[in-house]
Amino acid sequence: MQPLRRIDQILASLGYGSRRKVRRFVVDGRVTVSGGVQDDPGGKAEPASVQLDGAPLEFPEGIFVIFHKPTGCVCSHDLREGRRVYDLLPPRWLQRSPAVTSIGRLDRDTTGALLVTDNHALVHRLTSPRRHVEKVYQATLDRAPEPRLVEEFASGALLLAGEDKPCATAQLVLRGGAEVEITLTEGRFHQVKRMFAHFGYEVCRLHRSRFGDYTLGDLAAGQWRALVPPG
Ligand code: URA
Repeated sequence: MQPLRRIDQILASLGYGSRRKVRRFVVDGRVTVSGGVQDDPGGKAEPASVQLDGAPLEFPEGIFVIFHKPTGCVCSHDLREGRRVYDLLPPRWLQRSPAVTSIGRLDRDTTGALLVTDNHALVHRLTSPRRHVEKVYQATLDRAPEPRLVEEFASGALLLAGEDKPCATAQLVLRGGAEVEITLTEGRFHQVKRMFAHFGYEVCRLHRSRFGDYTLGDLAAGQWRALVPPG
């Protein structure tokens, strides 16, 4: 059971409008709690028991989804950086408080599994280097890699330009030709591209298929799916 909260606060924090606007919904009799009309905006309820116009509220207990990020959008919230992943998600999500954010980031030209949540403790938990959460990427390089890269990546000794701590051991699988799969347990800035650049390779295409326990499955680019948060 979730804690009881004021109904106007529930509706406003879930993105249904300003406090003033949602109070009007309540006074107008559009809100029910456990099936009964509740016309006092200051009345308390459990978010999951509240309905507006006969429909349950969206993600009353918080958002945790996997989004198949297409190319050409950024994980930043900054509007000056162009189209954001948040602009491809339901507009109401941007009105929620706490704010919806991605768990880690993918570059503008990287596709694949992006976790999105409003649970900031979960962000911390899934991005903390101490948790060693696996991220799996498929990449196409500018040419077939030398087999020695498998050992170099696994060594735990690869020092990227400008850094003083070597990369944690990473698993590299050569898939034939210029195709590779790489599994990381950290999430440094442009990490995959920089690891290959260290050996003179360019990453021409990068896709993340898995973040921790969460895989894209058959989710199409631009689509999202609700997840059950880790226990
Ligand atoms: N590594 C990168 O270089 N880019 C990404 O988007 C993710 C991991």
